[in-house]
Amino acid sequence: MTKYTFYDPFEIKRLSKLNPERIVFTVFARIQELISKIHFESFTIPFEPTPSQAAVQDFNFDENDTAVTPEQMSALVAAINVTNELDAPIAEIGAFRGVTTEIMASTTARRVYAVDPYAGYGGADSDLGAFENRTRDLPNVFHVRSTSGEASRHPELITVSFAFVDAVHDYVNARFDGTTWLRKLAPGGMIAFHDTDSRVFPGVMRAVWEILNDRANPLTLFIHVPGLVILQRH
Ligand SMILES: C[S@@+](CC[C@H](N)C(=O)[O-])C[C@H]1O[C@@H](n2cnc3c(N)ncnc32)[C@H](O)[C@@H]1O
Repeated sequence: MTKYTFYDPFEIKRLSKLNPERIVFTVFARIQELISKIHFESFTIPFEPTPSQAAVQDFNFDENDTAVTPEQMSALVAAINVTNELDAPIAEIGAFRGVTTEIMASTTARRVYAVDPYAGYGGADSDLGAFENRTRDLPNVFHVRSTSGEASRHPELITVSFAFVDAVHDYVNARFDGTTWLRKLAPGGMIAFHDTDSRVFPGVMRAVWEILNDRANPLTLFIHVPGLVILQRH
């Protein structure tokens, strides 16, 4: 682990491409991705089904506008329900077309801060339009048009009850987003990571494995279904 592990990749992107710090970080990021790929099997996390009493099935959503599966959505909603007695807000890091934002916000009275810059890293203006159409009638949804790191300084997001990390799917971003948002969790709060378990995104699996297995982090595994890990802060 080096100091670069905790750098905000989007802060680094503000530097000129020839800045030595940016060059070193870019090399670091590529090496970490390679390590994640080579050692993919060693970052396996055991599966943990959604507790049957918390599982929710009866919701409809457009699967064309999200990579989240019905099983993952059920797990997300279960975690939202289990954390409902906490009154800190929810932060979604990466909202895209607003499918998960809409389902989460319809499930709870808590405020849902959807953090997404729509700046070309997976989200474009047309996706922002879809997000706005889906969420405009939900009074508890607030769009924060910024990156994860910038949003972490938002005055309403000092503490969160639930964070859903689903932005850039490489090691440096998943590690940064995970570390940044888990530090904000209220006791009993949860953090979810999407696109785990996939060899297409080996850095996500490694980042989540490291976060879960770092003894300094007061976390336990709450749910792990294929493609989604949810950790609870004790
Ligand atoms: C996989 S999509 C999110 C999908 C959404 N959670 C769903 O399932 O409907 C990733 C989103 O992350 C956004 N994004 C990219 N970089 C980001 C950053 N640094 N912070 C927050 N969001 C970011 C992109 O604009 C894109 O819309």
